[in-house]
Amino acid sequence: MTTLPRTPSLRLDGKRALVTGASSGIGMGCAVALAEAGAHVVCAARGKDKLQAAVDAMRDQGWSAETLTLDMGDLSALNAALTAQDPFDVVVNSAGAARHGPALETQPDDYDAVMNLNLRAAYFLSVGAAEGMKSASRGGSIIHVSSQMGHVGGIDRAVYCASKHGLEGMVKAMAIEWGAERIRINTVCPTFIRTPLTEATFDNPERAAWITEKIKLGRVGEVEDIMGAVLYLASDAAALVTGTSLLIDGGWTAD
Ligand SMILES: NC(=O)c1ccc[n+]([C@@H]2O[C@H](COP(=O)([O-])OP(=O)(O)OC[C@H]3O[C@@H](n4cnc5c(N)ncnc54)[C@H](OP(=O)(O)O)[C@@H]3O)[C@@H](O)[C@H]2O)c1
Repeated sequence: MTTLPRTPSLRLDGKRALVTGASSGIGMGCAVALAEAGAHVVCAARGKDKLQAAVDAMRDQGWSAETLTLDMGDLSALNAALTAQDPFDVVVNSAGAARHGPALETQPDDYDAVMNLNLRAAYFLSVGAAEGMKSASRGGSIIHVSSQMGHVGGIDRAVYCASKHGLEGMVKAMAIEWGAERIRINTVCPTFIRTPLTEATFDNPERAAWITEKIKLGRVGEVEDIMGAVLYLASDAAALVTGTSLLIDGGWTAD
């Protein structure tokens, strides 16, 4: 008799997940995807009210979620929050910032704001999460929401591109160190997704034309376009996937 292989499960029942930036945009989509798949999701962001509203809406669906009010830029607060929590099986880092403008006009404040959140906080979140996963000896999956701008350059985006290219390198190096502990670390790299972060870009007709021309599938992304990829990387279906990035860019980087 032929023994058939079994499709790995995309369910996350019994898993604990942390999602940063969970009160808006892509992060909220990730929190929903993980909670719907059965995980208990700790939803983190700075603004308490929006976060509470998101968690309330998730609980109304019968899913398991709680709030964690946290400024990721405050490293001691980040470490204290991670220490106070039981280890996570899945961590999705979607908290991110952008201050777009010509490189010649970038001020040190802009540079620091973007790099502190997109790279420094991402680095130490990964370390804290991996420490917890290591102590629990059951592996885990860390997923950073990077960007197609972690693979190519973009107009007015020198600092943002630097932060996301840095994230891509960081993930590869951490994957090498943590593979033996079955701790996987990857990125998802979206193209332009309709969220509060991109409102100003879409409102600029020149930039909007640039975006439509570059996305081969002929439309901008929606939060739902990212949810399946994050669920895949969080689940056992991606058990052999680490140190890499999943581009969800409508073909932007194909040429
Ligand atoms: N939208 C796109 O087109 C696109 C494309 C590629 C990649 N990305 C990346 O996707 C990620 C999410 O972007 P988005 O479009 O979903 O943005 P968004 O709608 O503006 O949401 C950002 C989230 O991050 C939280 N956040 C911001 N600063 C924080 C901090 N210091 N500590 C904790 N939480 C913080 C925000 O809540 P509070 O302000 O209340 O803290 C909010 O929940 C970012 O890393 C971005 O670079 C976005």
